[in-house]
Amino acid sequence: MSPFRAAASLVPVFALLTFTVGACSSMGDPAGAPIEAAVNGPRPVETVPTFAGTVESILQDKCQRCHSEGGIAPFPLVTYEDIHDIAALARAKVVSKEMPPWGAFDDDACKVQHKIKDDLRLTEDELAKLVGWIDNGMPRGDDALRPAAKHYLPVGLEGKTHTLTMPAPYVVAENSGKDEIRCFPIDPGFTADTWIGGTNVVPGASQVVHHVIVYVDPKGEGAAKAATAGGTSYPCFGGPNVSDPSLLLAWAPGVPPTSYGEDTGLKIPKDAKLVLQVHYHPTNASTPDQTKFELRVIEGKPSYVAQVVLLGNAEDDKGPIKLLPGADDPATGPAFVIPANVADHKESMEVILPETIQGFPLPTLSIAAVGTHMHWAGVDMKVEIERKNPTADQPAKECLIGTPKYDFNWQRGYSFDEPADKLPTAAAGDKLRFTCKYDNTMANRHVRKALAEQNKATPTEIKLGEQTLDEMCLGVLVVTRRTSLVD
Ligand code: HEC
Repeated sequence: MSPFRAAASLVPVFALLTFTVGACSSMGDPAGAPIEAAVNGPRPVETVPTFAGTVESILQDKCQRCHSEGGIAPFPLVTYEDIHDIAALARAKVVSKEMPPWGAFDDDACKVQHKIKDDLRLTEDELAKLVGWIDNGMPRGDDALRPAAKHYLPVGLEGKTHTLTMPAPYVVAENSGKDEIRCFPIDPGFTADTWIGGTNVVPGASQVVHHVIVYVDPKGEGAAKAATAGGTSYPCFGGPNVSDPSLLLAWAPGVPPTSYGEDTGLKIPKDAKLVLQVHYHPTNASTPDQTKFELRVIEGKPSYVAQVVLLGNAEDDKGPIKLLPGADDPATGPAFVIPANVADHKESMEVILPETIQGFPLPTLSIAAVGTHMHWAGVDMKVEIERKNPTADQPAKECLIGTPKYDFNWQRGYSFDEPADKLPTAAAGDKLRFTCKYDNTMANRHVRKALAEQNKATPTEIKLGEQTLDEMCLGVLVVTRRTSLVD
């Protein structure tokens, strides 16, 4: 058993993580790539920003992949009137960085050293222009300057070999006010070890599909769970509830297809089954959804392996991942306990990467993407590395990601926009640290909602676990390394 698995299986659960991976130049066109992108040349530089000359193209690039017909956002931001009518709210949401939804921002404790792919954030310049335009009375400008319309049409996975679909549509009840997380077992029919070079998700009903994760279910236990639940799916908040699951893919709106490149693959063991997990967000109409995902199978064994490594969730300081002492610990020593009504509780944990793995020296791992995972009380998480043998490119200390705008609904992985040889690395003896902050008070709207759904009026003490009102502190690293004999 790999030490990664051992560590992660302290709480053998992972959920809702969205990854777009690939340090490879063969990355396909992003899903939702605007088809008329080429029509628009450089935008005019306006001293007084207008809708036509400046603002419309910002909305196109940073808002419309969700805020347009068929997108997950509840209203469009396409016409002058669309933005004009909600300008005050839009101003507040962009200034507070709640929109576009994106958890990772630099702060004093964490400055990320690499650019991030498919960055949805408004740049400081875009933010200043949008806010300036609203504050200046929203001039419409000269229609002749308007950019061509963009349409975020889904673009499939290049070279896809398999499309796997939910067995039947699942109807998301209208106005239930309650998000649903369902698991759909799917048999890919792989009778030999199979290497996946690329993945993509095609949501059935975009307006209700908030996240999609596909797990590998090595023993094929999902089907029985669905049968017990009386149909083709079962509820599954924390994870797929099967033994030894691993992550194949994860997706949220705005995330393009993933490609590992020609010679890198993620392995699905022979005869394993898959479990498709969908986070549904109900709307005011009952909505049937039949989500699909696409795979590109690589012929033969690739030279590089991609793996999704889950680390964290330390319960105490006894295991391979050690919980560090914290302010609210009991006299008995470090414990993962988040007291009720504390707004800034912190849990941190560390692991030193072992010298060997399954008897072989641990190879140097390239970190292609990093994500953070907590539940509803989580508000900020950082993943840091301390390297035993730093080099000019790989500093002694590096913060790999910080998510001070963490939101359970908008979790995603953050892929580094670097060529493979410039990616951050992790090697034997390096120390990884995970620091999670929680707001377990009624001021946290997610905690309020989660408690209301359980008919509870006040926060309760939170421990590590996989239920809605439990918590996690789990780092997700998508790593690549050379294929070895153990693969
Ligand atoms: C990745 C998808 C996505 C992108 C990109 C996005 N939004 Fe949203 N937006 C949503 C969703 C979904 C909602 C509904 C509320 C929610 O679920 O958080 C929303 C809600 C809003 C709201 C209403 C918030 C409220 O509290 O009622 C505003 C205003 C808004 N968005 C503005 C913007 C602006 C401006 C941009 C671009 C600069 C943008 N959004 C980009 C998905 C997105």
